[in-house]
Amino acid sequence: MRVPAKVNLALCVGPRRADGYHDLATVFQAVSLYDRLRARPRADGRICAQMTGEGSEQLPCDRTNLVVRAAWLLRERYPGQTAGKGVDLAVDKQIPMAGGMAGGSADAAGTLLACNRLWGLNLPVGELAELGAELGSDVSFLLYGGNALGLGRGEQLTPLAASGRLEWVFATAPRGLATPLVYRRFDEMADRGAIVPDAGLPDEVIEQLSCGVAERVAACLRNDLQAPALELYPELVQTLRAGATAGALATLVSGSGPTCAFLAADAAAADRLAAELPKHAPEVRDVRRAYGPVSGPSIVDRA
Ligand code: C5P
Repeated sequence: MRVPAKVNLALCVGPRRADGYHDLATVFQAVSLYDRLRARPRADGRICAQMTGEGSEQLPCDRTNLVVRAAWLLRERYPGQTAGKGVDLAVDKQIPMAGGMAGGSADAAGTLLACNRLWGLNLPVGELAELGAELGSDVSFLLYGGNALGLGRGEQLTPLAASGRLEWVFATAPRGLATPLVYRRFDEMADRGAIVPDAGLPDEVIEQLSCGVAERVAACLRNDLQAPALELYPELVQTLRAGATAGALATLVSGSGPTCAFLAADAAAADRLAAELPKHAPEVRDVRRAYGPVSGPSIVDRA
């Protein structure tokens, strides 16, 4: 199975709630950067994970790993149907780790779908999405893919119409940025009056997405976590500038960062941008081409 990453075309963040989370109004787009997930039954009833690829050496494979937690959650909620059933989960990571593209959430979404099938649960996706929200705010969206408006923590989803496809270049960074840290810095900035929390609906992005003109979408992209991410990771200012110099229509930090997203006018412009970018941004770890929207997790082979 392959599971896509996401970028937020709009990420409007409200004040911190009593539960520590923030109300969001976000426009998600699933993009063509994929982790690969293979799930095989285990006769001994154990839930085991193995991670390879991009940054995987930093990931524990114990019960703190999001794919292991996803499988456990399904088993705990449906003990009757899953009694004695185990799984071997192998994840090959291509989505940048701690990069603001929801790689961990994508893997958890893929695990829920894979185990649902493997263990014969046949739960509808809506039910998996409710479980997914307990694992992370982006998991529900990544079960569906496409484009969607996310409210609440981001888990209350409405699919959005889109025409055409957007051509992206992503620049990954040498180190990660922990999402809670970025939200904490957002709160600090709000306390000192540097930003005003506002989870109002990003109407313009939604409208332009349905029209599908990249230049117009570019003009209204918004990420309220960009300012705190830049305070925590000042080198990203240089990366964003490099994207503009290399011809991007719009530059923004992806989610909580530190991956930077660059929107191009079309596929040829995006290819040129991807080739140009490293010349202007030596601090970038890796440059990736992608497009969106793409559909959610899909089975690519049975190997
Ligand atoms: O839900 P998820 O595990 O992705 O969130 C990671 C962290 O990001 C949370 O622990 C919280 O600190 C922060 N967060 C938030 N408001 C949201 C989503 C995430 O404060 N809507």
